[in-house]
Amino acid sequence: MDFKVEKLKVNYKTLEEFKRFKEYGLQELSMLEDLEANIIDNDSESPFYGIYFGDTLVARMSLYKVDAKFNHYFEPPHDFLELWKLEVLPDYQGKGYGTALVDYAKGKNLPIRTNARMRSKEFWEKMGFTSVQYDMARDRGENPLFWFPETI
Ligand SMILES: CC(C)(COP(=O)(O)OP(=O)(O)OC[C@H]1O[C@@H](n2cnc3c(N)ncnc32)[C@H](O)[C@@H]1OP(=O)(O)O)[C@@H](O)C(=O)NCCC(=O)NCCS
Repeated sequence: MDFKVEKLKVNYKTLEEFKRFKEYGLQELSMLEDLEANIIDNDSESPFYGIYFGDTLVARMSLYKVDAKFNHYFEPPHDFLELWKLEVLPDYQGKGYGTALVDYAKGKNLPIRTNARMRSKEFWEKMGFTSVQYDMARDRGENPLFWFPETI
């Protein structure tokens, strides 16, 4: 099935929809505060992408481009995307929404880093992500996984 992935705008409706996701936290709260304090405008760009089912946001992820100079993972350094907060609402899991969001990120043709939570490692392996050598000073309890496009 084809899902439409949309870049999400920061507005009260989006921020209200975010509350239904388990990983609602400081990032969302600070976006809400910035909106309320007029630090950002209504409908500003956010780092979030999502998929709607009808009017309901059912899947989302945050995607952020990291400059090569902050890349401590592979040589030669290269820009990469950091993917986090990938989550599909419980009633919609297992229907391809997670794959659609990851495929969208892959379409940007940059390496992608994610930090796999304990129970999602199998999902990431299915998506073609692999672990990098664990480095205690760099990773400090994180479990970074990477995906590389063929052209890099
Ligand atoms: C993990 C998650 C993002 C996957 O999205 P999804 O839309 O449910 O997954 P898809 O339907 O695209 O499934 C793709 C494949 O991964 C498998 N899969 C999905 N979730 C899995 C999980 N938690 N563990 C193992 N395999 C999983 C599916 O069975 C499917 O396999 P198949 O292609 O062989 O049938 C989603 O289930 C979710 O939000 N779970 C709760 C939060 C979470 O664990 N997030 C982790 C990501 S940081």
